[in-house]
Amino acid sequence: METVVSGIRSTGNLHLGNYFGALKNFVKMQYENRCFFFIADYHALTTHPTAENIKTNARQVIIEYLAAGLDPEIATLYLQSDVPEVLELYLFLNMNAYLGELQRCTSFKDKVRQQPENVNAGLLTYPTLMAADILIHKAHKVPVGKDQEQHLEMTRMFASRFNRLYKTDYFTEPQAYNFGENLIKIPGLDGSMKMGKSEGNAIYLIDSPEIIRKKVMKAKTDAGPTQPNQTKSQEIQNLFTIMQQVSDKNTLHFFEQAYADTSIRYGDFKKQLADDIIAFCNPLRERILDLSEKNSYIDEVIEHGAEKARQNARNTISEIREIIGFRK
Ligand code: TRP
Repeated sequence: METVVSGIRSTGNLHLGNYFGALKNFVKMQYENRCFFFIADYHALTTHPTAENIKTNARQVIIEYLAAGLDPEIATLYLQSDVPEVLELYLFLNMNAYLGELQRCTSFKDKVRQQPENVNAGLLTYPTLMAADILIHKAHKVPVGKDQEQHLEMTRMFASRFNRLYKTDYFTEPQAYNFGENLIKIPGLDGSMKMGKSEGNAIYLIDSPEIIRKKVMKAKTDAGPTQPNQTKSQEIQNLFTIMQQVSDKNTLHFFEQAYADTSIRYGDFKKQLADDIIAFCNPLRERILDLSEKNSYIDEVIEHGAEKARQNARNTISEIREIIGFRK
């Protein structure tokens, strides 16, 4: 059985992009792999050293993971900050990571541009912390989107460099988990390619029917097709992409046809899309609200996850300490 590790920056509520892009697949993956799903709450400090609501945001992700069907008895769900062993590995990896390669990392360069007043060492070493998250469990596979590929590549570099330096074959190089056809990118409602929290264009799993309806009815459209089989504009394609996920085949087919023969009315199209998103989100939302009431159960899940993750992490650290030459 392969080990899978995946982290998410603790942003509080999850949206449809998180769900169809990752979470839905996680639910399946958990039965076929040894999965570690964690909330990267330390990583949050690299950009927001005084982040507020760290605890509630992380807890919310745990609640929504559970609501979506992750089983804490099967997968390990935990908070990064509950596993301090990660930091010991982070330290060791930092000794073998060079300034130049960290500075050349695309995400670092982006952040330097975005927040020139806060280029801290944590930001520079974001890739070694992420590598530590992955290598602490000796992961074989990491489900990553395009924007994280370079970090995974660097993880492989740190792993093989560690092996070379200490003349060992301890780490295997983690590979991207290939979702194949299941890799779905949910676009925004504003014509942009990506649904995201910071993009401000997201529908959250916890959004009420009224909010969902409002967001969908406000979604960007165009003037409508004037010729049969006209190529769709990005904003219209985006709405179809979402419909593909939440609506049944006949509905999708009906509106595809209507677009193709130019009879489509965007008002009806959006109304149907809103109905189907609501129908999809509602059961999830109810489970989220229900779990939000179960404080001691959530505490237990977090505690249980921390224990399982730490146990595995402790083993790794003790082996690594021995390889480097410290007392075990
Ligand atoms: N950097 C990832 C992101 O922003 C989050 C992350 C942190 C992660 N550590 C990880 C993802 C380890 C996978 C494995 O999305």
